[in-house]
Amino acid sequence: MDPFDLLMAEHRDLERVMEALDGCAERAEDDDPEALEALGEFARLVSAIDRHGHVAREDSVLVPQLIGAGMRPDEELLAAVKRDHQEVRALASELERVAKAGDPERAVEIAFKLSDLARCHIFTEETRLFPLARAVAQRGGLLVIAEAFADFDRRAAAGEESARLGAARDALVARWGTDAACVRQRVEWAGTDD
Ligand SMILES: [Fe+2]
Ligand SMILES: [Fe+2]
Repeated sequence: MDPFDLLMAEHRDLERVMEALDGCAERAEDDDPEALEALGEFARLVSAIDRHGHVAREDSVLVPQLIGAGMRPDEELLAAVKRDHQEVRALASELERVAKAGDPERAVEIAFKLSDLARCHIFTEETRLFPLARAVAQRGGLLVIAEAFADFDRRAAAGEESARLGAARDALVARWGTDAACVRQRVEWAGTDD
């Protein structure tokens, strides 16, 4: 698979997670204790994606490959992407802390900040970094990156991180995503006489 198509497919998964995170934050805003606890689970999921998933794929495989293919390490876009990753990491650990401390107001604020930043970050990567990276890597380089990604996937599968991460992601999206909310609402309506 083309390495940038793979990264963009992972972005679509991340957008579903962010959409579910927003839904969960809205419920936490209405003082739903289950939602506040779930915000902590979202925070742990984002940290796992940072350590073992998409963000690790970009930081530990893509960026070194691009530098190897000739991109300058101090390239403004690479620095901006790294800053975003650091900020997402910091927001996720702060969200986990305040959700555990039982502070819904602060947790909701951080959750919305996190989903906004993730969406802007995805936009920056897809409209600026990936086109530039694709041009730098060119054809031979793309194959090398694809192979390095396959190695990354083999290591993640061997350590079972990818299965754990996928299961946690799917459970949160199913519980808090809009589709899930629509289904719940339809079930509730079906149970009334209106
Ligand atoms: Fe990224
Ligand atoms: Fe990304």
